Amino acid sequence: MKYENDPGRYWWKEAIVYQLYPRSFKDSNGDGIGDLQGIISKLDYLQNLGIDVVWINPIYASPNDDNGYDISDYRNIMKEFGTMSDFNELLDGLHKRNLKLVMDLVVNHTSDEHEWFKQSRSSRDNPYRNYYHWWPAEKGKPPHRESFFDENGRAWQYDRKTKSYYLHIFSVKQPDLNWENPKMRKEIYEMMKFWFDKGIDGFRMDAITYIAKDDSFPAFTEDEIRKQYGEWSGYYASHPWLHKYLNEMNRQVLSKYDIMTVAEGPGVSVEEAHKIVDPSRHELNMLYHFEGMGIGYVPGEFKRVDPNGYDLVKFKEVYTKWSDAFVTKGWGTIYLGNHDQPRMVSRWGNDSPEFKSPSAKMLITFLFTMHATPFFYNGDEIGMSNIRFDKISDYRDIESRNMYQHIKKNKGNVKRFLENQKESARDNSRTPFQWNGSEHAGFTCGAPWIKVNPNYPECNVEAQEKDTDSILNYFRKMIKVRRTHTALVYGSYHLLDKEHKQVYAYVRTLGDEKFLVVLNFSRERVAYKTPPNFLLGENILINNYRGLTKYEDKIQLQPYQAIVAKAAAG
Ligand code: NOJ
Repeated sequence: MKYENDPGRYWWKEAIVYQLYPRSFKDSNGDGIGDLQGIISKLDYLQNLGIDVVWINPIYASPNDDNGYDISDYRNIMKEFGTMSDFNELLDGLHKRNLKLVMDLVVNHTSDEHEWFKQSRSSRDNPYRNYYHWWPAEKGKPPHRESFFDENGRAWQYDRKTKSYYLHIFSVKQPDLNWENPKMRKEIYEMMKFWFDKGIDGFRMDAITYIAKDDSFPAFTEDEIRKQYGEWSGYYASHPWLHKYLNEMNRQVLSKYDIMTVAEGPGVSVEEAHKIVDPSRHELNMLYHFEGMGIGYVPGEFKRVDPNGYDLVKFKEVYTKWSDAFVTKGWGTIYLGNHDQPRMVSRWGNDSPEFKSPSAKMLITFLFTMHATPFFYNGDEIGMSNIRFDKISDYRDIESRNMYQHIKKNKGNVKRFLENQKESARDNSRTPFQWNGSEHAGFTCGAPWIKVNPNYPECNVEAQEKDTDSILNYFRKMIKVRRTHTALVYGSYHLLDKEHKQVYAYVRTLGDEKFLVVLNFSRERVAYKTPPNFLLGENILINNYRGLTKYEDKIQLQPYQAIVAKAAAG
């Protein structure tokens, strides 16, 4: 099939990805923790959403220091989640419903309870020693490296047994694997084949750019270290070796299966992204960037969302840049939330009772009309919002808990930190999925591992199923629109009025098909002049309000109104 720009059709370009956080999705056995049988009981719900791919966060054996991102056995299932036979049933159930399964691949680090690490730390001449990064104490203290989840912010941990330090860019229980060791790489590839041979449909590659680092560990100057705050990726990750590893992984594993791969790419530039996703380089299919996620934070303070909101002009600039980046080569992704971010509607829309529904729908419209594979996070489809915990004891996330301790130890302002976390903490998006209005939102019959958002009596699947005007039904409608109009997938993207402070408008074109998307990102009414060839009337495909006011050559947009209109022929 020939298309403008001829990007080549692939199922993963046309797919709608739904990220499922297993710990919080559905508990089947009353222990308060979501599990595989819980997901199995909701397979029809997933199918009825109209999505294509489920990306599930790690479900491998893990002591759960970082909710499964610390894996102690890559070939087994976490006890709390079930067994391998549950997994087989889940995969089978998804495939029977024409849904694909993408798993998380966490190979920058393992758990310190993984057998490889137990061996590695046991003696300096153990065959597994080189599976990790060690710095012998006789060389003096290793050059400073920051750690994401360490209370003291230090990524080198002294290990008395062998009088050496090991590296952990994440928590002290997540030692970094040494990718320069070909034996270790081979074991990872074998493990990947194990899952592909079971029939999974792809991997989302966790912290993948971190696998390649300068393992001579040069010292950084004070200035460089200061600059690293929040931007360590540039220093610690994406060493040119990354491409050697990914290319080898592609040759030995990925190229042998019809699967999709997506890299997590914090700090990755457009140029670097191209090196990873350009098909001629034979590395990965897609990457998700963090540039959008970084908008609207106050610089110099840990995750403080600017109370004055974010700059839409900047937002448009970033998403336009990333859309334009893949016009001729490679392919992008688009998302506005996940398990590491606060809730999409709270962060980018407006979760007040008045505006939650229109703003959630508007954001859904945005994700479904961009030139990229859209990724939704479970709960977005019903407008789940931030829980905003008051107390540190309510948090379960290692990031929030350890940062709190870090700030406290350094006599910082913990009160302010807790205020900031209300808008930015990862646990905002990890609260239990809201199925219905019964106790614990129908997530569990036991005590949930983390509090349920008290808004569940109004915000839940059961209520929204019944309401034709609900966010959930709008989400389904948008899926149909994207599926019916290939222009919304492959069509070119042209930004209009880039300096407009409230409206994000663009045109998507493929052959004779042309669509105008107009999104009011503000809580105000805005008069907006549409281009002349769009007869806004019978050509409106999507409108998140009942009507649309027009006068002269303008439309009067309601707060967070979203319109998708087809250009009149001719
Ligand atoms: C990124 C994951 O998305 C996050 O949840 C995790 O804490 C880190 N990588 C470490 O694996």
